[in-house]
Amino acid sequence: MKGIVLAGGSGTRLYPITRAISKQLIPIFDKPMIYYPLSVLMLADIREILVISTPQDLPAFRRLLGDGSDFGLKLSYAEQRTPAGIAEAFIIGREFIGEDDVCLILGDHLLYGNGLTKLLKEAVLTVENTRKAAIFAYPVATPEQYGVVELSADGKCLSLEEKPATPKSNYAVIGLYFYPNDVLQLAPQVSPSPRGELEITAVNEMYMQMDRLQAHVMGHGYAWLDTGTHDAISEASTFVEVIEKRQGFKIACLEAIAFRKGWIGSERLEQIAATMMNTQYGRHLYELAQQHKSEQQ
Ligand code: TTP
Repeated sequence: MKGIVLAGGSGTRLYPITRAISKQLIPIFDKPMIYYPLSVLMLADIREILVISTPQDLPAFRRLLGDGSDFGLKLSYAEQRTPAGIAEAFIIGREFIGEDDVCLILGDHLLYGNGLTKLLKEAVLTVENTRKAAIFAYPVATPEQYGVVELSADGKCLSLEEKPATPKSNYAVIGLYFYPNDVLQLAPQVSPSPRGELEITAVNEMYMQMDRLQAHVMGHGYAWLDTGTHDAISEASTFVEVIEKRQGFKIACLEAIAFRKGWIGSERLEQIAATMMNTQYGRHLYELAQQHKSEQQ
């Protein structure tokens, strides 16, 4: 399965911060926002990833992430000229996806919780074994602000509505979608919505009508934070800071994930750490490499 991080958009709710910089490059505590969605794809064992962003911002993503080898990844990049909608990712990413299945995550999403890896792998298996699409439903206090899914007891999707005035459930659809390869045929059939976007909800509706849409519920034990407003950025940063300091662990530390998965070795980890030893992030990587060395002796 291949992965796409959609990191374009205009970020108008974050002005003036995002007048000159991409939303997905601004920090959530100690690392750029895009590290969080990238870590989710890595936890799902996805290593070939396309980063889609605006023509102005793409060079900065290349500077930050390079070819992905520091993280054991193979990264490619593509432009989205205007924010024409989430479903456009499958038109832009057509060649990159080729004959594979694909997972798309929005570049401003932070997901965290014990058991996340298992949940992600279940979604991969849903696609691979049943050829259904997999989405995630998350209980929220204000469903009217989101895409809302109504579910049967066994996780079957009964209805999907975009920002409904009277929601049929309190389950919001998270911006993390797993699709079989035929999304490449379905996405180009979507017409622009009244707000002029190729809506991902329209793609999900097609799978629902074919009885091929499976929702996985992400319950109260998980954090799903999107980071589109000033308050949300501040709250997400505090969330990450509190957990990292309390547990001596780093959320979305891409090099550490790659190392634990055996995608990069301890020498590489140490080299990367040496480039940022004046940060807690760098020292964390260094300690991980040292710990590994002492376990080997
Ligand atoms: P939004 O939050 O809907 O839009 P935005 O990021 O442009 O922000 P604002 O509403 O403040 O103007 O986008 C959600 C995520 O999806 C975000 O990471 C940007 C990304 N996105 C694209 O990359 N291209 C698109 O065409 C759209 C609609 C979203």
